[in-house]
Amino acid sequence: MRRALFIETNFSGVDAVLRCRAARIEPLLVTAGLAGLADKLPAGSLGRLRAAATIVQVRDPLDEEALAPVAARLRPDAILSFSQAHTLVAARLARRLGLRGADPAAVAALNDKFAMRGALERLGLESVRRLLVRRPEELDGVPQSVGFPFVVKPTRGFASVGVAVCRSRRELARLRHTLARELLPWIAEEYFEGPLVSVETLTLGRGRHQVWGLSDRALTHGVVEVGSSFPVRPPGWRAAVRHTLACLDGIGFDLGAAHTELILTASGPRIVEINARAGGTGHTQMIDAASGRSVCLDVVRAHLGLPVEPWTPPARTASRYSFWSARKGVIRALPRAATARRLEGFSDMWLFKREGSSHEGLRTNFDLLGQILCVGPDLKRAAALARVAARTLQGEVRIQ
Ligand SMILES: Nc1ncnc2c1ncn2[C@@H]1O[C@H](COP(=O)(O)OP(=O)(O)OP(=O)(O)O)[C@@H](O)[C@H]1O
Ligand SMILES: [Mg+2]
Repeated sequence: MRRALFIETNFSGVDAVLRCRAARIEPLLVTAGLAGLADKLPAGSLGRLRAAATIVQVRDPLDEEALAPVAARLRPDAILSFSQAHTLVAARLARRLGLRGADPAAVAALNDKFAMRGALERLGLESVRRLLVRRPEELDGVPQSVGFPFVVKPTRGFASVGVAVCRSRRELARLRHTLARELLPWIAEEYFEGPLVSVETLTLGRGRHQVWGLSDRALTHGVVEVGSSFPVRPPGWRAAVRHTLACLDGIGFDLGAAHTELILTASGPRIVEINARAGGTGHTQMIDAASGRSVCLDVVRAHLGLPVEPWTPPARTASRYSFWSARKGVIRALPRAATARRLEGFSDMWLFKREGSSHEGLRTNFDLLGQILCVGPDLKRAAALARVAARTLQGEVRIQ
């Protein structure tokens, strides 16, 4: 049996582990400890991981030198990670052990938002006004070099932590005090106006890509991502796909899934970030629900050098939508699985919180209570089903 070694995991990584087990590929999971993952994964994930994978505990899953002998001893046929923070160490280890993997230099360039902007500019693919901010005082130089409005975000950020939009000198003065120093350095860059989409791809080798399709985003409170649908084809989608593939090729990304976020501006698509991994938080499950296949398993197969079926455009649309509460207190009740299963279009539901835990209202993506995944014949129907389902489930939430 072939062995796939995962370095840490996220929501889609759990799915990959389970799919491996079902496909007779042995999953091994290197982690600093399953307990540490409890808050990051939907309810029930840890039990499923324990049942499906061989768990290998290490002190620091980012320490390549310490991991190399551990990985060598496990004799994997592939090493990969779905977790943003671990894509680079996985690519480096794969290279060290002579296994297939993405070019570590490309992954490193993609993981650093400032380095990525420089690389795209040198390639002549996209030029964005920007400034590297190493100390809060350096924010003062942004109006001159970037102009208003601008976005400021950690160069190695994820989950929208520490992202802010600044539109005036008054906001700039406030930013200097509110931005999280521990997340330095930041990149300050031009603000792009338009809808945010992501292009989901699987790269099978240099210049060889499978384009799964595009996903959109539903936001609430301007910043919290609460929903998404797949596949979508908004005006400008073809240009977004072309631009994404040119950027992946230019940077030299040559194996694995990529989740490329773009804003479709009036003057064309602009890259927000390129993640050298599949989309998390239910994104791969959404693509699976629409397409009827397992994209996580495809990613693993690509790393194992096994053939991957050609992509066929999905006949259905899948939509995920979160439920939340602005109320602060203790979570007394969360939606029941039985209620979810009865909802029209139901495909899956995940709970991100536990009953009995305290709740601070809705401030960031981490405060969402759970998510429903629905399927419909087209975008309008699927998105409507997911929103209605989320509202019904929200009705079962009790916080006191
Ligand atoms: N240059 C920009 N112009 C307009 N909006 C931006 C820009 N950069 C970031 N954003 C907005 O901020 C959000 C978070 O930025 P980004 O994706 O770079 O950070 P992240 O922490 O990796 O986020 P996540 O993991 O949630 O995707 C984006 O989804 C987008 O809505
Ligand atoms: Mg992003």
